[in-house]
Amino acid sequence: MKTLKLILLSIVSCAMLSSCGGKEKKKQDGFSYEKKSEEVKEVKSNANDIVITGNDAMQFNKKEIKVKAGEKVKITLRHVGKMDKNVMGHNFVLLKAGVDLIAFGTKAATAKETEYIPEGGADVIAYTKLIGRGETAVVEFEAPEAGTYDFLCSFPGHYALMKGKFIVE
Ligand code: CO
Repeated sequence: MKTLKLILLSIVSCAMLSSCGGKEKKKQDGFSYEKKSEEVKEVKSNANDIVITGNDAMQFNKKEIKVKAGEKVKITLRHVGKMDKNVMGHNFVLLKAGVDLIAFGTKAATAKETEYIPEGGADVIAYTKLIGRGETAVVEFEAPEAGTYDFLCSFPGHYALMKGKFIVE
């Protein structure tokens, strides 16, 4: 049903534009994954500009992220899969020191209305919005004090695979 809706939407937006083949159209239709990945690569210039991807197999492409204490960090999360955010949603959530990952993941699973960030984000340092196929989310924050922190995707059940260490030196 969702796919059909998208196709219909594409047809409608096609009809509204004079041409369907132009570059402008390509940007709007949401299916141009390659274009998006090019844009993200350009951003990756500074040491603390980190790009992390999530796929349809419930995996991040990084298990470890290293930054320097007190420096600005920019996390760009890209969903490189084809599934909708309602079934394969991904976010990047960085937990405060001492917060148990499993306990947090369990609590987060019940916080659907706040995109799986429970208790107003009391346990987290930073997080992105929840995204689905082809989407990108960015969060910027200051690296906390030196130490090892956990990061995860808080979509229900994903923390079992989608997790890693955020190391501040
Ligand atoms: Co996920």
